[in-house]
Amino acid sequence: MIPLLHRISTGKFLRRRFLILYLVLGASLAATEITASRKADAETKGQTIRYDAAAHSFRLDGADVSYILGVTESGDLQALYWGKRLRNQDPFPVPISEGGSGFELPIDTSPHEFVGWGGGFYGVPNLKVSFPDGNRDLVLHYLSYTIREDTLTVKLKDIDRDVIVDLVYEMDPATGILARSAHIENRTKEPFTIEEAFAATWNLPSSSDYQLRYLTGRWASEFNLQEEALHPGKVVLESRRGSTGDEVNPWFAIERGAQPDQDTGDVWFGALAWSGSWQINIEQNAADRVRVTGGFTPFDFAYSLKPGQSLDTPKFYGGFSNAGIGGASRLLHRFELGSVVPQAPDRTLRPVLYNSWEATGFDVNEAGQEALAEKAASIGVERFVMDDGWFGKRKDDHAGLGDWYVNPQKFPNGLTPLINKVYTLGMDFGLWVEPEMVNPDSDLYRAHPDWVLNFPGRPRTEGRNQLVLNLARPDVRAYVYGFLDKLLTENDIAFLKWDYNRNWSEPGWPAAALDEQKQVYVEAVRNLYGILAELRVKHPKVEIESCSGGGARVDLGVLRYTDEVWPSDNTDPFDRLRIQNGFSYAYAPGVMMAWVTDSPNWMNNRSTSLEYRFLSSMQGGLGIGANLNKWAPEDFVVAKTMIGQYKQLRSTVQEGALYRLLSPEHGSEYSVTESLSKDGREAAIFAFLHSSQLGDSYPRLYPRGLDEASEYSIQAIVGKLDSRIPKQASGDYWMHHGIEISLQGDYQATLFTLEKEGMK
Ligand code: GLA
Repeated sequence: MIPLLHRISTGKFLRRRFLILYLVLGASLAATEITASRKADAETKGQTIRYDAAAHSFRLDGADVSYILGVTESGDLQALYWGKRLRNQDPFPVPISEGGSGFELPIDTSPHEFVGWGGGFYGVPNLKVSFPDGNRDLVLHYLSYTIREDTLTVKLKDIDRDVIVDLVYEMDPATGILARSAHIENRTKEPFTIEEAFAATWNLPSSSDYQLRYLTGRWASEFNLQEEALHPGKVVLESRRGSTGDEVNPWFAIERGAQPDQDTGDVWFGALAWSGSWQINIEQNAADRVRVTGGFTPFDFAYSLKPGQSLDTPKFYGGFSNAGIGGASRLLHRFELGSVVPQAPDRTLRPVLYNSWEATGFDVNEAGQEALAEKAASIGVERFVMDDGWFGKRKDDHAGLGDWYVNPQKFPNGLTPLINKVYTLGMDFGLWVEPEMVNPDSDLYRAHPDWVLNFPGRPRTEGRNQLVLNLARPDVRAYVYGFLDKLLTENDIAFLKWDYNRNWSEPGWPAAALDEQKQVYVEAVRNLYGILAELRVKHPKVEIESCSGGGARVDLGVLRYTDEVWPSDNTDPFDRLRIQNGFSYAYAPGVMMAWVTDSPNWMNNRSTSLEYRFLSSMQGGLGIGANLNKWAPEDFVVAKTMIGQYKQLRSTVQEGALYRLLSPEHGSEYSVTESLSKDGREAAIFAFLHSSQLGDSYPRLYPRGLDEASEYSIQAIVGKLDSRIPKQASGDYWMHHGIEISLQGDYQATLFTLEKEGMK
């Protein structure tokens, strides 16, 4: 690479001698890859990924986003630009090299793409290793690159040792969302230990006016939106729980300036695709520059790499919108449905399902489930799901997990009669499983007490009377895959609700070599993904829901293998509006399952009408979780009508563009969403009122995203529209004059549509 060598040999570089030596050694490898890359450059029409030799920089363009990175004279890889798409002819920005004093070395103030811990770096490094000779210094410099279709790979190497890092960049052409990950390889002759491994760092330019958003929660109160101003210092979002967790979700968004509405302003956002312990650090330095670094949490982390071995980090996705936080969510939604979920880009719409949990709890049996199935079918349900209680000696949550045979008392003839009945009724059949767990009171645990996470001689702390199987163990992985494969082979199952009802404790893996025991954090998750992937290949008809006592395992990693997620065990339709609102910042309505359950709600004793409950649940994938045995005849009539209406609108709701017209945030009495169909033909507007106060009227609604000049007719689907509202008007009229609705009382809701004329 002549230009690089030239730059380096003329540059004032501290480690020049070492670097030149290593470049000479690495030259043959680099040369081959660069020849291949140039060819790829020429072949890539539209040039979504370009290398500019003069600037020694790379530029990735996708949708409305440009991302530019470049190599400095000293061989450091820096982030140069991330934001709104630039013109093709625009110049490449120049790298930053600052460092004003002995306290601020250039390495500490530069916008590194991926930095090793060494050379005086004080921030969160992407990679920290410890070598057997006591050296812990790692300085990664550019070696070579390749471009293949939508993927750029930039190779880095330590200035002295053969520690190689491949940085992988995949640009999604439809949304401009970039996936970044790192492949870390030990090409030295000795093992070393990785102490910290972060997938990527997103660098933002200097600004003292950034607003950070993230999502926090707990069981039954997931996805609470947090908003705060960024200041110099560090915000750490993290799960140490062994899985994604509901304490905080691996998503962030940073907006420049506090924008007055949802649809203006520059927003950078990201999400980590990992379902194990993780960490995202948002650092702002004294010069107000921001770095967002995400990957495995370093807490209790160690990964030993023998010569020739490698470690792949999860993907850390990042995107940019200059249509505000609303635009950022819509990009993520499109990306998830178009590029992440297993059936992408042509996924089937979520069927209307029934789930037995709130109706029958653990008390499931053939006759009871068949009776529920008949009632569910009568209102238009398309999928019948039997929840917990069907297996082993399961009568409550104290026993049975791990023993995945059909309980012979509850189902003397196996599951086949029930499944046949469900199909005869015109529905498909789904089943609850919790594969990664075991109750101490189970045959599995009695036979294999060593299969759980544990430290020998220490307590095994139970959560919901259960222990966590160590899925990193090959025998446990084989057992879990084996029973699921058998279950799906022997029974006509179309859907698994895959649950995970506790977090880790005592995360020991005593059977592994001492220096590999902490790898449990990585291997358990990899094996989970592996099992899901293999099951999907062998049983392609099966769809899967990720549930973790609610929304404790919702992330872009698990969404690669699952079709939908369960955001919360809290099924109160009012509480759910807030949970769903938070959820929607990071995740698409099309992957969100929501049930209509009984009133008063078990959670908080709140009473709401059946219509209100339906409208709350109809904003994603619709489920029914009520005890249909207790319903009055008129409830069936309402439910049948609402389900019919939902089916008409579901592609708009599940796949459309979501606009939050009024968010149930900051104690707001109101919640209004608009879903605009992919073809722009139809907008469905769901409006909710918590309680009328002081005679206040409902705020006027201003739909968004309509064609300004096209005519739209308005139609009430649930509730009535005021007679003063015209039947038809232009997009401009609806968006700028607005719509006055008159909801009054407590827990009121309405649904209406705007339909483009001439497109019926
Ligand atoms: C978890 C799930 C519930 C239900 C129960 C069954 O709590 O979130 O929906 O499946 O387990 O035990």
